[in-house]
Amino acid sequence: ELPFSESYKIKMIEPIRKSSREERERWIKEAKYNLFNLRSDQVFIDLLTDSGTGAMSDRQWAAMMLGDESYAGASSYYNLKNAIKNILGFEYFLPTHQGRAAENVLFSALVKDGDVVPGNSHFDTTKGHIEFRKAKAIDCTIDEAFDTTLDHPFKGNIDLNKLEHILLTNPKEKIPMIIVTVTCNTSGGQPVSMQNLKDVYSMAQKYGVRVIFDSARFAENAYFIKVREEGYADKSIKQIVKEMYNYADGMTMSSKKDAIVNMGGFIALKEEELFKKASQYNIIFEGFITYGGMSGRDMNALAQGLDEGTEFDYLETRIKQVEYLGNQLIEYGITIQQPIGGHAIFIDAKKFLPQIPKEEYVAQTLAIELYKEAGIRGVEIGTLLADRDPDTRENRYPVLEMVRLAIPRRTYTNNHMDVIAAALKNVFDRRNEIKNGYQIISEAPIMRHFTVELAPA
Ligand code: F0G
Repeated sequence: ELPFSESYKIKMIEPIRKSSREERERWIKEAKYNLFNLRSDQVFIDLLTDSGTGAMSDRQWAAMMLGDESYAGASSYYNLKNAIKNILGFEYFLPTHQGRAAENVLFSALVKDGDVVPGNSHFDTTKGHIEFRKAKAIDCTIDEAFDTTLDHPFKGNIDLNKLEHILLTNPKEKIPMIIVTVTCNTSGGQPVSMQNLKDVYSMAQKYGVRVIFDSARFAENAYFIKVREEGYADKSIKQIVKEMYNYADGMTMSSKKDAIVNMGGFIALKEEELFKKASQYNIIFEGFITYGGMSGRDMNALAQGLDEGTEFDYLETRIKQVEYLGNQLIEYGITIQQPIGGHAIFIDAKKFLPQIPKEEYVAQTLAIELYKEAGIRGVEIGTLLADRDPDTRENRYPVLEMVRLAIPRRTYTNNHMDVIAAALKNVFDRRNEIKNGYQIISEAPIMRHFTVELAPA
């Protein structure tokens, strides 16, 4: 059998530049040890996010040229509406400029002070939009998800007992929705099984609560259902996607992930009444309902991206690249979230640097070391991201302190993966020399990780 290779070839390139360790030590200090403050030309391989950082295809660029920039009723809007109807099955949709904007619009229509919103682990902007409205986001992810080394095929699953407990102990007027994040970014890019989606939906119907999928990486979720869940091996990704959305009343989408565009989002719904209510907010926050913060050309590229992003060959290339990197790290003895998720490798920082106290931001310390080592920019998914408890203002120490290496779609080659693995191995080999973490110099009251300033502890 021939070795595996990419299902595309490269037509356009963007140069990237290596730097010296001295330069990087200076730059990260100037950046107040916050990787978000680095300039992109200070980074060699950028794994900060897989959001909006993918490479569009020739067909997407061609679709851009056909964009219709009419304020109302543009053909690009109808192209996108058709793609959403055909691929995801929703009758109603609202374009927004990105995923958190979709959350803002939909939650403005749904979430009130004192509400509770259960789900698997909510993404930070989702949680932010819930807490901003003085409601509570409740994590009902299965316990297995929090043990990085435990092998479970669907660590994004919702624990039905935990969910039912919330549904039983709160009046349904206080539960505007259950949010299922597919794949579950916060628990490591881990998928939710079709069975779990089905069970959550039937429980939700029993209690009269709607289900919304946070769908940023829905296609990667469908890939994992195909390769891991019994009965789906012979189904196409598009068939699986359609079936997944049988178990949702609506969705919010960050199109910057699985729809492989640089900017964009949307809300899609089955209920006309909710669509009408959300439309009001879309108009005041995003723009008229046929563009909602997106250019016509971007809606065209998004419609094409939804189609390409739900093709098996593309998804296999993508997910095998993430696995290729992850398997090298496992071989070196570095603990990562397993099984390897869809969009990223999540390194267990507490196992990597057990000598650093949790008060000194273990995962951030590791992310900084990796940057200094080779100009690779990952991101902390740990205490900085978890923020403070809104009531007590104490640090929330999450069970897992992780460094996420998010792999942009169709952007880097496996040679880049080799460099990342070698750099991490170097840091791992000298891990005992890393004695101190970091302390906060200044922070914002909400979403502090973006702007936090740090100094060595
Ligand atoms: N939901 C999930 C699961 C996400 O991962 C993100 C963004 C959003 C919603 C918000 O979408 O960025 O378009 O406003 N995640 C990015 C990341 C930022 O790096 O994981 P957005």
